[in-house]
Amino acid sequence: MGRVIGGPESEAAIAFPLCTSVDPVVQAFDSSPQGPQRYTGEPNPGTALTGSCFDQHNPRVTEPTLTQQQLRTPVLRRSFRKPYPVAVRGEGVYVWDGDGKRYLDFSGSAAVNFIGHGVREIADAMAEQARQLEFVHTSQFTTPVAEEFAQELLDFAGEHFRGGAVYFTCGGSESVETALKLARQYQVEIGQKNRHQILSRQQSYHGATLGALAVSGNKKRREIYLPMVREFEHVGIPYCYRCAFCRTGDCTDSCYNCGQQYAAELERAIRAANGEAAGFIFEPMSGATLGAVTPPPGYLQAIAEICRRHGVLLIADEVMTGMGRTGRNFAVEHFAVEHGGIAPDILITAKGLSSGYAPLGAVIASKRVVDGIAACSGAFLHGFTYNAHPVSLAAGRAVLRRVRSLNLVRAADSEVTGTAGAALKIALESLRDLEAVGDVRGLGLLWGVEFVADKKTKAPFAPEKNFAGLVGQACLRRGLLVYPMQGCVDGVAGDHLLIAPPAVITAEQVGWAVEQIHGAVKEST
Ligand SMILES: Cc1ncc(COP(=O)(O)O)c(C=O)c1O
Repeated sequence: MGRVIGGPESEAAIAFPLCTSVDPVVQAFDSSPQGPQRYTGEPNPGTALTGSCFDQHNPRVTEPTLTQQQLRTPVLRRSFRKPYPVAVRGEGVYVWDGDGKRYLDFSGSAAVNFIGHGVREIADAMAEQARQLEFVHTSQFTTPVAEEFAQELLDFAGEHFRGGAVYFTCGGSESVETALKLARQYQVEIGQKNRHQILSRQQSYHGATLGALAVSGNKKRREIYLPMVREFEHVGIPYCYRCAFCRTGDCTDSCYNCGQQYAAELERAIRAANGEAAGFIFEPMSGATLGAVTPPPGYLQAIAEICRRHGVLLIADEVMTGMGRTGRNFAVEHFAVEHGGIAPDILITAKGLSSGYAPLGAVIASKRVVDGIAACSGAFLHGFTYNAHPVSLAAGRAVLRRVRSLNLVRAADSEVTGTAGAALKIALESLRDLEAVGDVRGLGLLWGVEFVADKKTKAPFAPEKNFAGLVGQACLRRGLLVYPMQGCVDGVAGDHLLIAPPAVITAEQVGWAVEQIHGAVKEST
């Protein structure tokens, strides 16, 4: 057990691996002399941390170490343990720091940037909107940019969302919170007042706010906050490389039957909820936590059917996978193609929606959900001061226009010869030759590279080695940005990189970047 903060040990006290770095980007950039502090599941040795740790017997903060003092600035950064490069400019797939060093952004920051950095027309659209009308409150006004962009997004989301409506937020977590409340209110409005539980999956990530953390399954990001969240059932998540059912990941049916067993787990959880399940939230393709794991054939169709049969709303979290990232407008379109993909009741998106040019998220609700509220109470009991912010919406609208004019969703499609997606897929596959690479998986422009200590047994590296972090640091030294993560095996062990470049990347740039990863892995092994 780790140290305890918050008073004497009790059920409510938190086993807290001190100074755990929960941020992969922090891990990647960490170049502090002590290196990143890693979660080990064991008591923290504390010696290197005595200057910065809470002490349960003397609960006051002691003086930071000299290194930490030198790294302090007025900004409360993600880590006090490392210096951050100062980013000053971006263009295309590149970002430059204040020393003139250039970085190829092979992870789109954190799977955010899709259209490339420094696109002038986006900045112009935002400036024009700010000049015309910077802000009004959604309790008093709507705006042309909100109405027009909402319709464009509904069209982009496809036939299934015709007649639906869009709720704009400032990002992914706000969108998840909104969707959870929307699902609850919908159930109440249609007379299902007992339905308040939101079921979700282990090893998922839905955001940093407490409601979003409650439905998330990312162990490291949740652990210390668990006493503060209301939790419902988390069911298993298909992860074919380490399948809990076939154990081998090489079923002759591509884990179809395993997928059905995972789906059956959801049905059991819904039954156990005893009529209280309001919704089920899932990432159609796993994002950062498992590293671009795609579902086995038939699985998503099965969970969609189970939810429909039990009156549980299907909430697809496409914060990371939406807006073209996987080579479809939304990742759900990959599944049951003959039916135009599975049909969620609520679709959440963010990240690529504004490509990082402004804080923006969206909850796209189907007609059925919107009708449920419109026809009954007539008011969604929810709101943020900054929802539907005109300047963010102007950015999102201009981004979508660019995605369309440059045909970037097609560029992201890894199944179409000659696209950026195809170049990425082919180049990443070459990493399988490395002893430390156990799996390469993904779709479109969202890929995961999983590392193993033993290829045959799939044994992961010891977590304290922080292998992904080491590779991330080696990449950074070479001028390459990747997204290293730990915990894919069981929430603690397991190392992978998430790769998610902007769709404007060229085959040459992909080739160079993968060469750097190759070198970085060798250097770290
Ligand atoms: C699938 C998913 N949902 C929600 C979120 C939270 O989004 P944000 O960080 O914009 O609040 C993320 C962030 O990575 C995500 O990947």
